[in-house]
Amino acid sequence: MLLRTGNGQLKVSAGRIRLVNGDACRSSICYNYDKIIKIKWEYVHMGVEEFLKQEEERFIRDNLMSDEVFDFIRANTLPFNQLMAYYRCAIMEVETKFKVLNEQFSLQYDRNPIESIKTRIKSTEGIIKKANKKKIPFTMQSIEENIRDIAGIRVICSFSEDIYMLADCLLQQDDIRLIEMKDYIKHPKESGYRSLHLIIEIPIFLQNEKRPMKVEVQLRTIAMDFWASVEHKLRYKKNIPDSEAESLAVELSDYADQLADLDYKMEQIKKRIVDAEKQSEPTGERKKPLPTIGGMLVKSRINGLIK
Ligand code: GTP
Ligand code: MG
Repeated sequence: MLLRTGNGQLKVSAGRIRLVNGDACRSSICYNYDKIIKIKWEYVHMGVEEFLKQEEERFIRDNLMSDEVFDFIRANTLPFNQLMAYYRCAIMEVETKFKVLNEQFSLQYDRNPIESIKTRIKSTEGIIKKANKKKIPFTMQSIEENIRDIAGIRVICSFSEDIYMLADCLLQQDDIRLIEMKDYIKHPKESGYRSLHLIIEIPIFLQNEKRPMKVEVQLRTIAMDFWASVEHKLRYKKNIPDSEAESLAVELSDYADQLADLDYKMEQIKKRIVDAEKQSEPTGERKKPLPTIGGMLVKSRINGLIK
């Protein structure tokens, strides 16, 4: 069913509602509902954006905000904010460790293994959702013990070889404790998702105490990150017929394989460049670093390899 409004159209179908053709269409506010929403005519006149905001609030209230959660928020606002600050500190510690490794590696091998680093703290809504999903008690202690991805850091590398090298270097450090490793590069998910996941514990040093904090580290190549980011966005497009969704999933998984293949080929190119560079070096003294991989100097040195 389509309802015309001032800002666009509301598409209502069994179990879901979304705004179409509206300026303000945001996929994050398109929820699947358990039951058909009964649209009142006054909603249609109140403006689509306002309507969806009310529906979003209602959804959170009905589905996330149990009495337990309300009581928790009332009693723990300050300690909760403090805990989130500790997670931010833990992220800073882990990020610094990766930056130090990147710096050291670039001095040693004239290239940076890390392309970029992204960090995030899970939103309060995300924490409530996960606590509900895991059916854990809503207490500070249980949140800290059971939700291991409140602090997240994503390290994007050029080559998968660098991923394992960086993970090894991090895990060798004596203040890091590995809680769990999931290798979705060697064992990709059915969706095609690839990354190396580490759940680690790292101490943060406060005024009077040393506090171990859990952090989720995701390491992936640029290609894996490209795939995961696009696929994540598509995941929230819900009003797609099942058969089409299935065929899209198969295609996406196939593209993930193709990207993995490309990653492998690029890694081989890098190895050939390194070997060719070694062979052209006069024995003994090390040459000055190459300015850029795609630059003229490389072209003239590695005859025939890069056209
Ligand atoms: P979560 O409850 O989502 O944290 O999952 P989990 O505890 O079972 O851990 P898992 O290692 O499977 O996934 C953790 C994170 O990896 C997710 O939050 C995503 O960031 C990412 N991820 C896992 N699978 C996929 C996938 O199929 N596609 C995309 N885009 N990301 C994924
Ligand atoms: Mg997660």
